Amino acid sequence: MSDAPKKLHIKTYGCQMNVYDSERMAEAMGTQGYVLTDDPAEADMVLLNTCHIREKAAEKVYSDLGRLRPFKEAKPGLKIGVAGCVAQAEGEEIMRRMPLVDLVVGSQNYHRLPEMVAATARGERPVDTEFPVEDKFDKLPERPATGRPTAFLTVQEGCDKFCAFCVVPYTRGAEVSRPVARILAEAGKLVAKGVKEITLLGQNVNGYHGEGADGVWGLGRLVRELARIEGLERIRYTTSHPNDMADDLIEAHGAEPKLMPYLHLPVQSGADRILKLMNRHHTAAEYLRLIERIRAARPDILLSSDFIAGFPGETEQDHRDTLALIEEVGFGAAFSFKYSPRPGTPAAERAGVDPEVADRRLHELQALITRLQHESQAAMVGREVGVLFEKPGRLPGQWVGKSDYLQAVHVTSETPLQGALAKVRITASGPNSLAGVLL
Ligand code: SAH
Ligand code: SF4
Ligand code: F3S
Repeated sequence: MSDAPKKLHIKTYGCQMNVYDSERMAEAMGTQGYVLTDDPAEADMVLLNTCHIREKAAEKVYSDLGRLRPFKEAKPGLKIGVAGCVAQAEGEEIMRRMPLVDLVVGSQNYHRLPEMVAATARGERPVDTEFPVEDKFDKLPERPATGRPTAFLTVQEGCDKFCAFCVVPYTRGAEVSRPVARILAEAGKLVAKGVKEITLLGQNVNGYHGEGADGVWGLGRLVRELARIEGLERIRYTTSHPNDMADDLIEAHGAEPKLMPYLHLPVQSGADRILKLMNRHHTAAEYLRLIERIRAARPDILLSSDFIAGFPGETEQDHRDTLALIEEVGFGAAFSFKYSPRPGTPAAERAGVDPEVADRRLHELQALITRLQHESQAAMVGREVGVLFEKPGRLPGQWVGKSDYLQAVHVTSETPLQGALAKVRITASGPNSLAGVLL
């Protein structure tokens, strides 16, 4: 065997949890002598960390696998693995459809990746999509320094909400929270390696209910404890469900300066009929009351949401109710998606909205969201805001970071700003970012 390091290429699809998982898989394979490469042509192993949330996302995996065929022909020793939510949902099916795939590892089994790779060397094609009892994070190696000032940290995984459109409860399993002590230890190590901002991740992160020394902790208490870590400057969390916005978490937004004034709180629709059909367990009015309470705690908070256009049964009036709710809240950012039926979910059995109507509604949602986002960005001009700089910009001397409100901000500076947290006065607002000067 040669001593040259083997090369691993990982392509990540879907949500931030997949980004986090890809990093952890890279670390697990690092212990086996693999280093990362951006170029699949020079890789000894390619891993696709997949997303099943909408049909397009899932189908993309198969077309990307097809595109790997010439690489495998050129280098027969190349190992191809499929991880993530498509792996979880379609394990054996991937093996049948795609003979070039060597292993399939579901979203809960990444700690088993090294032994699975060893099995492929013996000519096996392992598939592991069981939901194991042990915590995969416990079995993964310690995280190395990345040089980046921001990091994700998964605190909760899975979802018990079963929204009628959503595959996540099936691909990520039941809600599980990691114990407080492990999270604090991981956060402490990240900060010791130079991380200044941690985003706590969970499919239903504000439903966090982890074991603490004195009983079960909610997310509000976890945030306040994390805020005591010296050197940790910013805390964010995503994604939340309106029904799990506990009082102490809302209070933390007012009381804890390290908790950033940005909240992604998906509502999906502004029509009570549709919310009910979606199994969301709250009304539009209840959501608006919740927003009022959050804004009472932190008046400048920037709110964001997800919306689905053309959910089965959605009428023109329901769609107009959604537009009205978006306008009323005045979201500073939001994502909207055309409804995509997912096999195995209750809504997939229902008669759908005409695709052209759904497309038009999606465009109307996007146009309104874009306008509000521009208004919210324009309102930043003249304000002073904290910016954590992450990397050089495209122009010479330019640095890019994120404001407290999670907006991209460009600044020009002679001295390198990478990793610096600084006060910036915003001077201009472009379509997708802000420009400013250091104070
Ligand atoms: N856990 C998060 C997000 C889950 S997926 C939450 O509860 O909010 C991210 C977004 O994808 C969802 O908020 C929803 O707007 C969208 N989405 C999920 N399933 C979808 C489907 N079948 N079709 C279209 N959009 C979907
Ligand atoms: Fe999916 Fe989120 Fe609903 Fe859970 S709460 S089922 S993750 S949309
Ligand atoms: Fe996609 Fe799985 Fe995340 S379905 S959105 S990668 S939890």
